[in-house]
Amino acid sequence: MLKELQRMFREIPRWLKIAVIASVVLSWVPLAMVAKARFGTSARPRLHVVFNMDNQPRFKAQQTNPLFSDRREARPAVEGTVPFALNSGNPVIETGKLDGGWIEAIPIEVDLPLLRRGEDRFHIYCEPCHGAAGYGDGPVAKRADELQEGSWTQPSSFHTDLVRERPSGHLFNTISHGIRNMPAYGPQVPVRDRWAIVSYIRALQLSRNAGLDDVPPEFVAKLK
Ligand code: HEC
Repeated sequence: MLKELQRMFREIPRWLKIAVIASVVLSWVPLAMVAKARFGTSARPRLHVVFNMDNQPRFKAQQTNPLFSDRREARPAVEGTVPFALNSGNPVIETGKLDGGWIEAIPIEVDLPLLRRGEDRFHIYCEPCHGAAGYGDGPVAKRADELQEGSWTQPSSFHTDLVRERPSGHLFNTISHGIRNMPAYGPQVPVRDRWAIVSYIRALQLSRNAGLDDVPPEFVAKLK
């Protein structure tokens, strides 16, 4: 058998053997090129056939920019620019805390315009999850229930004893920094608006849990 093979091999013409060996070796060239491109380094950028929007002209920090007469790339703030979060300078108002404990009352004057503002902000920022009346049944919560993905945490109702008894400072802090699975709204809602929302939550809570004593006397007869 081995003899037979050796004889067959000897009968193959020399040029054919060379051609086969050469083509095998040559077939390694693309592989070697790929390996070199993969593991080697080069000063030239890679071949980039489809550009999409991978590269766009831009200035890097501290470069000169010939588009402006002062050639500065980093533009100074436009005159009159106000920092996004105006700090009241009062740590109690900014944090809802006094001496390490939550404050019970709202530390700014609560009047009708503040309540209206709170209502307005509540509809934008809180209602999607907590619902218009604060029962935790907003459209986002309803949709999440429909999807049944299992990862959704039900938004709290504001009408449980727990949330009703939360000090105002705690509610404020919940809006500012979020709580457990609820995200923070401090970065989007300025301090005064957060207190406005707290005042509106208090109004919602009162509206669901009021006694006859809370009704102005002139309306009591009507209710009866
Ligand atoms: C994206 C949905 C979502 C939005 C928007 C949202 N919340 Fe919540 N909120 C939750 C969830 C979920 C919980 C319960 C978190 C948990 O138990 O892990 C919660 C809990 C709360 C609680 C109860 C916290 C406690 O004391 O236990 C309060 C109060 C609250 N949210 C107020 C607000 C206010 C005010 C806004 C608007 C500024 C708001 N939330 C916006 C999802 C949301």
